[in-house]
Amino acid sequence: MKRMIVNKYGGPESLILEECDSPIIKELSVRIKVENVGVNFADTLVIRGRYQERPRPPFSPGLELSGTVIEVGKKVKTHKINDRVIGIAKYGSYCNEIVMPAENVYKIPNDMDFITAASFPVAYGTAFGAIDWKGVLQKNQTCLILGAAGGVGLACVEIANAYGANTIAAAGSDKKCETCKEHGANSTINYNTETFRHSLKKLAPDGVNLVIDMIGGETADDAIKSLSWEGKFIIIGFAGGKIPKIPANRLLLKSSSAIGLYWGQYAFINPPLIGESFNKLMTMYEEKKLKPKIGKVFKLEEAGEALNFLLSRSNTGKIILSCN
Ligand SMILES: NC(=O)c1ccc[n+]([C@@H]2O[C@H](COP(=O)([O-])OP(=O)(O)OC[C@H]3O[C@@H](n4cnc5c(N)ncnc54)[C@H](OP(=O)(O)O)[C@@H]3O)[C@@H](O)[C@H]2O)c1
Repeated sequence: MKRMIVNKYGGPESLILEECDSPIIKELSVRIKVENVGVNFADTLVIRGRYQERPRPPFSPGLELSGTVIEVGKKVKTHKINDRVIGIAKYGSYCNEIVMPAENVYKIPNDMDFITAASFPVAYGTAFGAIDWKGVLQKNQTCLILGAAGGVGLACVEIANAYGANTIAAAGSDKKCETCKEHGANSTINYNTETFRHSLKKLAPDGVNLVIDMIGGETADDAIKSLSWEGKFIIIGFAGGKIPKIPANRLLLKSSSAIGLYWGQYAFINPPLIGESFNKLMTMYEEKKLKPKIGKVFKLEEAGEALNFLLSRSNTGKIILSCN
């Protein structure tokens, strides 16, 4: 089998191709022939040793994959050979064959191709966690999404739209804002050319019920100030690099709350909960309420380029690796 590894922590250029033996299967695991892998912002952090998970080099990054089950462990009852699946890993999916616990592997609809499937788990799983589990978003509420043209962001836009919310998407270029509209945003703010807080005041004069934040920084600070009575600010990530300081006085005055979500950890603490969300999300996909956007597909061997492309901020939607 082949995989992309880092031998020591570093940037995307440190990723190298390695040919190695296939891992041994365990009783409760399945072996998957990997077709595609979703690339995530977190991959850029884990290879630098700057993510919550700090695996020791050598290791492969990669949180998600799609493929076909080619072997099942002796005690696995839930999966069979030839099942078309997605899988979630703490790291290690940048490869063309993987052994992983069956409980972190979920079936996909017959009409979902492998590229779309690989784009799905982290982006839509996290978006669902933010909007449904934590945000409890209701019809006609206002939902503001920061970093809305990224993988998680566009998934949030689509799910919020499917829930009947008034969806405001904030992103860093007019082209990205246009993409957000195509995916269901009612209105958009370009936070690189507009004065964010002024535009937001016009679009949501009564405040925002739910903010989903992927970027942090000053935009997040302004978004917290815009929360309505009992509004919620969901903390997903800090792609902009600056962790916002949550002003406790603002939360008090609006009886509002700031809530963190580490979605990936649920996959290991509570896999059935993740399975339930995927069932709901796959139904929404089959009903054509979700239309995953693929930004660009790279070969597995080009994983370093793929990560640099992600960091260049010129992408919308998901970046995917093709492993065969
Ligand atoms: N908590 C969790 O469980 C969880 C799960 C998944 C992801 N995350 C986090 O959520 C964030 C977004 O993830 P993603 O997969 O959606 O990433 P992505 O597809 O790369 O999108 C990130 C967005 O952030 C914006 N951005 C602002 N400053 C940036 C910078 N300096 N470098 C790169 N992008 C920047 C970009 O949009 P503009 O150019 O329009 O600003 C980009 O579209 C990341 O911080 C990630 O680690 C957290």
